[in-house]
Amino acid sequence: MKTKNNILVTSALPYANGPIHLGHLVEYIQTDIWVRFNKSIGNDVVYICADDAHGTPIMLKAKQQGISPEELISKTKKEHENDFREFFIQFDHYSSTNSKKNEELCKEIFLKLHESGHISQKVISQFYDEKEKIFLPDRYIKGTCPKCKSEDQYGDSCEQCGATYSPTDLINPISVLSNTKPMTKDTNHYFFNLKNFKDYLINWTKEHDLQPSIKNKLNEWLNDNLNDWDITRDAPYFGFKIPNEENKYFYVWVDAPIGYISAFEEYSKNNGNKFDGIWQNEDHGEIYHFIGKDIAYFHSLFWPSILNGAGYRTPNSVYCHGFLTVNGKKMSKSRGTFIKASDYLKHLDPEFLRYYFASRLNDSIEDIDLNFDDLTKKINSDLVGKLINLASRCSSFLEKNSDLMLSKKLENKEKFTEFLNDVGEIKKLYSQRKYSNAVNKIMSMTDKANQYINENKPWAMKDLSKVQEISTQGLNYFRSIIILLGPVMPDLLKKTENMLNENNLAWENCLSPLLDKKIEKFTPLKTRIQKEDIQRLNNELNEKNNEDKKKVKNMSNEIEYEDFSKIKLRVGEIISADNIDGADKLLKLTVNLGELGNKEIFAGIKKFYKADDLVGLKTLVVENLKPKKMKFGTSSGMVLAADSDGDIIVIEASSKIKNGSRVK
Ligand code: 2FM
Ligand code: ZN
Repeated sequence: MKTKNNILVTSALPYANGPIHLGHLVEYIQTDIWVRFNKSIGNDVVYICADDAHGTPIMLKAKQQGISPEELISKTKKEHENDFREFFIQFDHYSSTNSKKNEELCKEIFLKLHESGHISQKVISQFYDEKEKIFLPDRYIKGTCPKCKSEDQYGDSCEQCGATYSPTDLINPISVLSNTKPMTKDTNHYFFNLKNFKDYLINWTKEHDLQPSIKNKLNEWLNDNLNDWDITRDAPYFGFKIPNEENKYFYVWVDAPIGYISAFEEYSKNNGNKFDGIWQNEDHGEIYHFIGKDIAYFHSLFWPSILNGAGYRTPNSVYCHGFLTVNGKKMSKSRGTFIKASDYLKHLDPEFLRYYFASRLNDSIEDIDLNFDDLTKKINSDLVGKLINLASRCSSFLEKNSDLMLSKKLENKEKFTEFLNDVGEIKKLYSQRKYSNAVNKIMSMTDKANQYINENKPWAMKDLSKVQEISTQGLNYFRSIIILLGPVMPDLLKKTENMLNENNLAWENCLSPLLDKKIEKFTPLKTRIQKEDIQRLNNELNEKNNEDKKKVKNMSNEIEYEDFSKIKLRVGEIISADNIDGADKLLKLTVNLGELGNKEIFAGIKKFYKADDLVGLKTLVVENLKPKKMKFGTSSGMVLAADSDGDIIVIEASSKIKNGSRVK
């Protein structure tokens, strides 16, 4: 009889152009718990991931930073790996889609699909930014929604009315890169013929164990028209070249999922060809992809079709999760709800987030909310107040009465067996990804354990061997609970092992008590969250938000050289300056511009100058400014004044130069 399964598990590959944030971590924590659980029950599991390294945003970000895309993705990969390590996300291998292996495999799969008639070519018309010399991805075009007429909408969909469209449908399209109007240009692209797989996908959906809501969505898509998928991007692009083409690349979404295979093969090659042939033959093991619900289309329509078309097997399932909201709000920088993994780590214990997410996650695609009050309550009262406290109490009795020796037998063996009643059910809940139910059950075991100590009152007992047996039983309750919670809190499990002088505790170990053994003195395994910890995190987020706002403001103030060169400046002399009744900020100036005559100009400098002091000053005037009607009259130009650390100084025109004369 087969006792253990070979299971290959993946999480979605994070883009290599930004940091890991708590939204990402929902998925990596969800997957890591499942992987650790399966390893703990004895399955042979390999957990693979990689950075998703290609695409226009990565190319542009590198350019913006003045580095090569390769440098950017290697720096980001290190940061990602570090964040994952800190949160105890334990990949068996972490690669990058920009690898030799992935390039080979991409080309190989493409050629197979081509040979089998699943690739076609078509000339399409796309928006092109003449100034930046680049074809524009949908997200780099903005304009007015053709349906509801909302302005400033992206080229693929409207955030106001939800309409989806093609960028060429936008009214007044503008390139986000150069703020210029894009032109349309013809280009020859390769398409993956998704239509060829309609019947296959209908069957695939029926036969695979997918979440009901995902199945419904797939059936909806399958009942609709399946459009062929454009898999080409024109140069400049950071990605892999399409075979036999000069300036054409694979769209990032082609080489990203293929990265699952190539990363696995890198792993397998270095680990004695483990799970050899798993991508070719279903008998060699199971494959599961954990992803967010937003990328279900790619993983359950394109991906199985590509695999099938190129002669590979398909995954057993694709497990989708919902998005993360923070304190009930969508994650967003401006609301202070966008929390980077590295910022969280400065203030809070990573396992608290793992525990909190587990207590909220189930097998549905519902969004989950991170509420900091709720997190504090769950950690302080459940985890520290009930669970850690149980160990602290029992080990202090053992320390006082039996020199930290566990008794030779339990005080009540039947009770211990009864205590373990739910272990089978908890195992099932983990395997079904119903972690919130599993955590609830584990927490009720914690209540039972505390109740046992409270009822037996070892602190009031004279019989020291009885005290030892009761404390040993209590500490074994703790040990079993920690083993059951191990997939969620691996570091707590490790620390508990150290305290109990044990190693590699697995699921089955929770069923047999640890007896007649000396243990280590208790040290606080986890400490409560203080209000100030949360406050410090919030302060940091607010500060970062303000800094970002400043940066955006500075960036949006930038003007083009061509814009500046439109301004015509002329030296003028202020010949009169007057206060205006009823105006707090304005002075009325008359400026003589020589052959252009006099101009009347209203200037907002009253706070900085007395009117009379300005008379006679030679200054700079924008002479080609459109006259502007104001409350007190028409202003026909502008006197140049500049910010000098909060002070405003009218610019004095002077031809004097230090120690020298000017060339005439
Ligand atoms: O949506 C994303 O963040 C993608 N980088 C996920 C890729 S998953 C897989 F297909 F590679
Ligand atoms: Zn709209």
